[in-house]
Amino acid sequence: MRIVLVGPPGAGKGTQAAYLAQNLSIPHISTGDLFRANISQGTALGRRAQEYMKAGDLVPDEITVEMARDRMSQGDAAEGWLLDGFPRNLHQAEALDAILAEESVSLDAVLDLEVPEEEVVKRIAGRRTCRSDSAHTYHVEYKKPQAEGVCDVCGGELYQRDDDREETVRRRLEVYHRETEPIIDYYKTQGLVVTISALGPVAEVTERAMAALRREA
Ligand code: AP5
Ligand code: ZN
Repeated sequence: MRIVLVGPPGAGKGTQAAYLAQNLSIPHISTGDLFRANISQGTALGRRAQEYMKAGDLVPDEITVEMARDRMSQGDAAEGWLLDGFPRNLHQAEALDAILAEESVSLDAVLDLEVPEEEVVKRIAGRRTCRSDSAHTYHVEYKKPQAEGVCDVCGGELYQRDDDREETVRRRLEVYHRETEPIIDYYKTQGLVVTISALGPVAEVTERAMAALRREA
């Protein structure tokens, strides 16, 4: 399956993507995680992306599209993928259409996670992220690790993301409404959007998402 996950910052895209990708046996491709891995490895791409991310702005399309295209061309992505955080504006959505056309494949669904803004702010404020490239995600209240500050999955150190400060979160929400929301209408005209509520326990949201995707398949 080829699925795009959309939703505001903190909606739970990364959290759900990990479970959905496992259930569907497809790779989870997160442009945010790819950027953060590049930053921690000190690559040229990471250095270019860092200032935009820190400000809560989008990284320029030419950098982002090439990175996404490159990841989608890897062997494990031949039969499908779950895209998390890409595309993020209309230009990227058109670029993805061009990539799909080159491969003669198409999207199966765009899963839209709906969550009120006050919940998003609570989720982001309590988020802790694992330093490993897999970026396992926790929450100080809703998804506690077994040992404080340590990832259950890989033992990595948990930290608070640079862009999770309150003023940056506000900026990211603004950018989401202005740049990313329009892609939902773009995909609606193609009949691809399934919207689910992202409220409630993580496992319930996963079940809701799986049921919605089964209806689309
Ligand atoms: P990115 O990493 O994609 O961040 P985002 O879209 O802002 O999304 P988040 O990672 O903040 O949230 P999420 O929805 O994944 O929520 P999570 O599962 O962690 O992008 C970061 C930056 O990179 C961008 O600002 C931009 O600069 C750049 N970038 C990335 N892609 C780009 C692109 N395509 N073009 C240009 N620039 C790009 O959950 C949040 C918290 O809530 C966690 O603590 C979690 O444990 C908790 N939680 C999850 N589900 C539940 C639940 N059901 N109940 C209670 N708590 C929950
Ligand atoms: Zn980890």
